Amino acid sequence: QLVLDTLDKEGSIKDTRTLVLPGQTDAAASHDSQIIILGALNSLSSREMISYTTQETISHVLTQEGASIALNGSHEARVWAVLPAKGEGEPIPPKDLEKRVGAETAKLGQANAFKKKWITKEGAGLVKIVSEIVDQTQLDMREVDSTGTLKAGEKALAELRRRKLIAQRKGQWFTVSKGSNFSTSIEKPETDLTVDMLTSGSWKTSTYKKYNFEAEGIPTNGGALHPLMKVREEIRNIFLEMGFAEMPTSSFVESSFWCFDSMFVPQQHPARELQDTFYLSDPSTALHPPEDYYKRVAKVHEHGDYGSKGYQAPWSDAESHRLLLRTHTTATSAHMLYKLAAKCRGEQVDDDGLGTHSGTTQTHAQGEGAKNDGFRPAKLFSIDRVFRNESMDATHLAEFHQVEGVVADRGLTLADLIGFMRVFFKKMGLENIRFKPAYNPYTEPSLEIFAFHPLLKKWVEVGNSGMFRPEMLEPMGFPKDVHVHGWGIGLERPTMIRYGISNIRTLVGHKVSIESVEKSAAVRF
Ligand code: PHE
Repeated sequence: QLVLDTLDKEGSIKDTRTLVLPGQTDAAASHDSQIIILGALNSLSSREMISYTTQETISHVLTQEGASIALNGSHEARVWAVLPAKGEGEPIPPKDLEKRVGAETAKLGQANAFKKKWITKEGAGLVKIVSEIVDQTQLDMREVDSTGTLKAGEKALAELRRRKLIAQRKGQWFTVSKGSNFSTSIEKPETDLTVDMLTSGSWKTSTYKKYNFEAEGIPTNGGALHPLMKVREEIRNIFLEMGFAEMPTSSFVESSFWCFDSMFVPQQHPARELQDTFYLSDPSTALHPPEDYYKRVAKVHEHGDYGSKGYQAPWSDAESHRLLLRTHTTATSAHMLYKLAAKCRGEQVDDDGLGTHSGTTQTHAQGEGAKNDGFRPAKLFSIDRVFRNESMDATHLAEFHQVEGVVADRGLTLADLIGFMRVFFKKMGLENIRFKPAYNPYTEPSLEIFAFHPLLKKWVEVGNSGMFRPEMLEPMGFPKDVHVHGWGIGLERPTMIRYGISNIRTLVGHKVSIESVEKSAAVRF
C-alpha cells in the first residue's frame, strides 16, 4: 500500500531506500527492509500494477561482535562504566576488572580507554577520569545496523571492517514506476473461475491472477523404488518382451525335495549341509510330495533309471522332507516344470497358469505339428529372493535376489542356450559374453557365463546355466525329446555395477539411507 500511495502521490519512486515503512521512523535503508519491499514489488508487478528495476549496492551488516557492541556498548565503554571516578572510590585492579567484564573486554577495553584518555592508573588499580563519554563505536554500530552504511564515509567503514565489527553485503534497492493496471487499492485477483462468477456475470470485470509458469512444483513425498527393484523391473521387461511368463515365487520356504531332490541334487551334496542352507526347526517337516513322482525321484537317485545309474547312495525320506529357506529359485522352476508336465503324465489340467496356451510362446514345437503327448513349450522366468548360510562381507549377504529363466521345448540344444544367452545379455547392455564349462548336479552340460564389463574393463562372472538332466525331467513325465535349458543370474551384482556401489551394505540392509533410495537414478538398459 505504501508503494502504491507513494506512486500515486509522486508518480514514481526513484529509490526505495527513501521509503519509510509502516511502524518505522527511519527510511528503509537496511537490507532487511529492502527484502520486505522486494516481496511487495513482486506481488504488485505480477498484477502489472507496477514495474520496477533492480539496483545493486554494497551495504554493511554487523558481525556478531558488532551486534554485541550495538547492544551493550564498546569494550572501552564497558570498562569505563564499571570503574569508580578518580578520588571517589577504591581503584579497581586489572585482575578484578577481568572478573567484572570478562577477560576479552578487559584487555581490549583498557587499551582503548587509555588511548581515549577516559581512564588512568591509580596505585595498583584503575579509575575513570572523565565523567561522560561518547561511545562512538556503539553509535557507529547502530548507524550501520539501521542504514547499512555510515555517514562518516568509506574510510570509517574500512576501519570497522578491519576490526571485524562489520562485514560487506551485496544489497539491492529498486526504482519503481506505475504499471498498466495501476490503482491505489489492491484487489485480490481471482485464481479460479467459479459457477457463481459465471451466473452473476462478475467474471467479466474480475481481475485474474496470472499463471506463473516459472513456479517450481511442490516436491512429492511419495514412495520411491529401491535401486534393486528398478533393475528388477528392467530385467522383468526384457523377459516379458521375449515372451516369458512370470513364475509365482512367493514361497520362501521349500522342502528339500523340491529344492534339491527333484533336481537330482544328491542327498549327500555339500550344498545341503547346515553351513550352507538354513533349515527350519518349527515346523521342520514338509507335506509329502505326490507319491508316484516321489517314488520315481527316489528311485533315480538311489538305483538309477531312464538310462542313468543314479547315485547308488542311500535315500532318506527324512532328508527329503526337511523344510528350508530356498537356496535358489530353481526350486520354483522345478515346481513349475512338474506342473508343465502334468498333461504328459495324462493328468487333466484346465489352466496351468504358465502362459503356455494360445500361442503366447513362440518356440520350435509350434508349426511342427504337435505330437499327441500333451507337451506344450514354455518360457518361464522369476526374480526373487533366495537364502544362503554365507559368511557376510562387503559383497555377500545371507539373502539375495536371483533372476532365473527356463525354456522348455522339443529338441533344444546347447546352441539354443548359448544363442539365447547372447540375446538376453545384449538386452542388458552386455554385448561381449563368454562361456566356461561348469558343473551343476541338475544340468549337463553346464556353463558359467562371463561378460566383459565396459565400466570395470574386465571379465566378470554374471551367471550360471545349463541343460536340465534327464534324471530331473523324465521323472516329472516329460517325453525324452523335450529338453529344458535354464540360467540364473544375481540381481545385486548388476545393480551394484550400475550404481557404482562397491559395498553391498550400502545397497541392502539397515545402513541404506532412505535419501539415497529416493535419489537413486532411473535404470534403462
Ligand atoms: N540354480 C542355479 C544357481 O543357483 C542357476 C541355474 C538355474 C543354473 C537354472 C542352471 C539352470 O546358481
